[in-house]
Amino acid sequence: MDLRKCRVVCSGKIRQAAYDYLKDKVDLYSWQQRGRVPAEQWDAWLAEAEAIYSVSNIRIDEALLEKAPKLKVIAQASVGYDNIDIAACSRRGVKVGHTPGILVNDVADLAYGLMLDTARGIVRGHLHVAAGTWAERKAPGLGVTLYGKTVGIVGMGDIGSAIVARAKASGMKVLYHNRSRRLDDEAIGASYATLPDLLAQSDFVVVTVTLNESTKGMFNRETFAMMKDGARFINVSRGKVVDTEALTEALASGKLAAAALDVTDPEPFPGDHPLLATGKVTITPHIATATGETKDAMSLVTADNILAGLEGKKMPAQVPVRHG
Ligand code: DGY
Repeated sequence: MDLRKCRVVCSGKIRQAAYDYLKDKVDLYSWQQRGRVPAEQWDAWLAEAEAIYSVSNIRIDEALLEKAPKLKVIAQASVGYDNIDIAACSRRGVKVGHTPGILVNDVADLAYGLMLDTARGIVRGHLHVAAGTWAERKAPGLGVTLYGKTVGIVGMGDIGSAIVARAKASGMKVLYHNRSRRLDDEAIGASYATLPDLLAQSDFVVVTVTLNESTKGMFNRETFAMMKDGARFINVSRGKVVDTEALTEALASGKLAAAALDVTDPEPFPGDHPLLATGKVTITPHIATATGETKDAMSLVTADNILAGLEGKKMPAQVPVRHG
């Protein structure tokens, strides 16, 4: 098969490393300028597309698949693929790839950094200095020590276990909750707990679950009420795992002492949202994987997923087929 005749399309910008790697191997159409390709242009590209290099979380559902009758492969340039209807792709025999593994350390680093921020108020301290208020008082409030505290990690995949290593280095005790208990949890250094037990015992709760029907809205009024008074909440998974209003209430009422989020509902998050007005939250704009090294590596796996999928080979990182 001559791959150079296979049309590969992308509604946004393909990272340069992958663009250079793919451009002479396939018939590549991408929008290498700011923003997204105009809708009409996109529809014309889709009509001939055999593969989609998926960026910016475009929704890939029946309606989009309908416009792409020749489609064989979708390669999502991230580990999460909650924007893609996998069952609809499976019904049409469209293979889906993603980028697990390579981003684990970066996401774990940011999760740890956000946890530390909820404990020590790094961003709050910076804002205090930048506001010129240091001369009035040294710090905007006291923090808490990580050493000896319990962190509960909800979702114990590769990212969860990389967070354990970081928490252990700070002398923390680690609980985790997962759909199923891990056989290697002793070696990882984390103890399994039911979700209610984890929430009741943890000083810090860090969320790394994938977004699906069972995790959507998992952190809500009921689950926040189950957490320790004065606990701290960190989310690096997906924004929709959290009921934002319930989190706002839990912070405003003092039930939770602080929160730090790399993912929000909605995204982009409005600067005038009441959650920010609590003054107890740090929000980063979905940057857990945003290092040059990791983004390059993710883009190259995405490219390799496309090439393998088009050649009819198993992709380096293929999402399992879903029936239903
Ligand atoms: C991922 O890879 O899913 C990260 O959240 C970036 O989108």
